[in-house]
Amino acid sequence: TVLVVDFGAQYAQLIARRVRECHVYSEIVPSTMPVSEMLAKNPKAIILSGGPASVYAEDAPAAPEGLFETGVPTFGICYGFQEMARVLGGEVAQTGVAEYGGTPLTVGSEGVLFAGLPAVQSVWMSHGDSVAAAPEGFEVTAWTPDTPVAAMEDPARGLYGVQFHPEVLHSEHGQAVMKHFLDAAGCRPSWTMLNIVEDAVEAVRAQVGPEGRAICGLSGGVDSAVAAAIVQRAIGDRLTCVFVDHGLLRKGEAEQVERDFVAATGVKLRVVDASERFLKALSGVSDPEEKRKIIGREFIRVFEDEQRAILADGPVDFLVQGTLYPDVVESGGGTGTANIKSHHNVGGLPDDLRFTLVEPLRTLFKDEVRRAGEELGLPPAMVWRQPFPGPGLGIRIVGEVTFDRLAILREADAIAREELSRAGLDREIWQCPVVLLADVRSVGVQGDGRTYGHPVVLRPVTSEDAMTADWSRVPYDVLARISTRITNEVREINRVVLDVTSKPPGTIEWE
Ligand code: XMP
Repeated sequence: TVLVVDFGAQYAQLIARRVRECHVYSEIVPSTMPVSEMLAKNPKAIILSGGPASVYAEDAPAAPEGLFETGVPTFGICYGFQEMARVLGGEVAQTGVAEYGGTPLTVGSEGVLFAGLPAVQSVWMSHGDSVAAAPEGFEVTAWTPDTPVAAMEDPARGLYGVQFHPEVLHSEHGQAVMKHFLDAAGCRPSWTMLNIVEDAVEAVRAQVGPEGRAICGLSGGVDSAVAAAIVQRAIGDRLTCVFVDHGLLRKGEAEQVERDFVAATGVKLRVVDASERFLKALSGVSDPEEKRKIIGREFIRVFEDEQRAILADGPVDFLVQGTLYPDVVESGGGTGTANIKSHHNVGGLPDDLRFTLVEPLRTLFKDEVRRAGEELGLPPAMVWRQPFPGPGLGIRIVGEVTFDRLAILREADAIAREELSRAGLDREIWQCPVVLLADVRSVGVQGDGRTYGHPVVLRPVTSEDAMTADWSRVPYDVLARISTRITNEVREINRVVLDVTSKPPGTIEWE
């Protein structure tokens, strides 16, 4: 295990992911954790994350007592590097010169971190304070025009630090620097997908026991699918999956779950076609919040009915959930990390929950879940599905949701998805909602006749985490193909418009 000590949430997760990309298991711990507790986790190495604060700020998080005397190889990044320098007797100065963005780094001595790397390389900087003098025993190995100590190391004591952010892709050789540290610390690359899946299957088997039964709700998304596939491997038919088809999925998605997923995993599946029930409940409703509430409420009711039916066959003690590591970290789950927000998967469960949760993805990041899905042989379209909201197309029809309108939107959405995929843009685009403005009509002309149809909005966005987003600069010829095909192939649509709003101020979805 590599411990990533968190001095500021958003940096730590990225570092933990980069470590795992080197096939070494990593875990995030808060900077308030006592060193004795860290050592109890038997870490091979410790990495100190960056953070927003100046080491001189009043509320600056300090490194826990004794962190640099553990003998465990330790790597400080940005704030963590400055904290290392401060505690060990170096000089951290408020130079007043902030460095931000891509910066040329001069490597004076390759040492351990820069072995075999170019003497000048671009690194990503984001800091106000600087280390003016390294502590005794350290060699200064790199600098930039404004930062005299941009990297330092004391291999004899196993201590290393860099001012820049090796974890971000803008640092040209960041991943190599990270790897050099891990190698020097003696971390073996044993965190592979096969091991991850096997370990997860074993853990579920141990938790559920030889007799236990479990249920799992499938949404069509990758998380619940991978979680279910792992549990199926562990306990076979003692897992029952429930798929509530609310009729608000996109074209082909219900079939993906009912046919392809079942074929790939052998999961025992109960499908509930509840589309009529949902449509009826949504009839006459156009207010977005109202729609969301209705869909959420109906979903829980249908799922509870199914639970009761399954319970009639005997007791079920376990509920499978696709909770991911970022949710666990952000909810302070078990590690003592500051509680930033209660994620609905973790903190928001009802108090009278009668099930014990089985969460086989609790230690995994999204990209690891996708690779685990590939390892498990799940349908690629499911594994690589872009984010799709729980309320589905119900919140992509501005106006009342009806059967006919859903059919129109499904066709338009399928065309947009197909063309974006064909253009190779799936990984570049975070997601591309297609929104039907069902209450808007405009005049058009097609063939010899006047048309009076609806517009659809294309909303392609790029994003890191959906908290902020920018509209994607999709090439004009791709937009042209999408527009031509939608207006030709979907009779009711006579206009395609592009949403060029970032988030904020716009949200990604329209409702
Ligand atoms: P907004 O529209 O708030 O969306 O910018 C941010 C991200 O969340 C997705 N989204 C949802 N996901 N249930 C979900 O599981 C929901 O009710 C929901 N609403 C929005 C949205 O697609 C985007 O990825």
